[in-house]
Amino acid sequence: ASSRDLAGRTVLVTAGGTREPLDPVRFIGNRSSGKQGVAVASAAAARGASVVLIGANLEVSAPAGVRLVEVGTTLELQTAVEAEATAADLVVMAAAVADYRPAETAQSKIKKRSDSSTLELRLEENPDILRGLSHNRSRDQLIVGFAAETEPDDDALLQLGRAKVARKGCDFLVLNRVGWTEGFASDRNTVVVIDKAGDRVGEASGSKLSVAHRILDLVFAAR
Ligand code: C5P
Repeated sequence: ASSRDLAGRTVLVTAGGTREPLDPVRFIGNRSSGKQGVAVASAAAARGASVVLIGANLEVSAPAGVRLVEVGTTLELQTAVEAEATAADLVVMAAAVADYRPAETAQSKIKKRSDSSTLELRLEENPDILRGLSHNRSRDQLIVGFAAETEPDDDALLQLGRAKVARKGCDFLVLNRVGWTEGFASDRNTVVVIDKAGDRVGEASGSKLSVAHRILDLVFAAR
């Protein structure tokens, strides 16, 4: 983590977790705080990059010196990413994106029913933003995905990461373990970075800011 080595580069980072509305007061969401993505934005800005941060329901404030675009749902995130990505030399997709959204959003609060003790929700698939971005990129740019998984052992995590990086078509995938107590909301993180061939290119453990710097070191070393 050094100097202004990213001066002249444009970096787009997504962070946080999308929320998919069920009705005006409820949503399906996830426990991503946005801390790791915000740390990547902060590290890139400190190193001189021009940074756009697309924040989905961030629980932390955006760092000074980055342009923040706020979104709520996956479809809003997609629109924002598509608008900002072409200008970016590096795209880091750290946001936890909902794979599904409610097939219908009720216009008024869904009422509790007295005739049934169960309620079924029908969900519809969301677009895979990272996959679309990787496969349709118009220019030479680096695209980094994240994968937060609950696999307990390293081999299983790595195997899952290899399949995912191939499916998504991104240049690098940052793998980390999440669970009831790990990953989300924590100020620390442990990650493994693999490249598009599925080879392990490095790992990092420590504060989310130090992990962010290490990720930038690893991906720009490929340039
Ligand atoms: O498939 P999975 O959700 O584990 O993939 C995680 C990566 O893909 C993250 O980089 C996330 O931002 C991205 N993603 C996406 N669109 C989705 C789901 C995930 O861009 N619908």
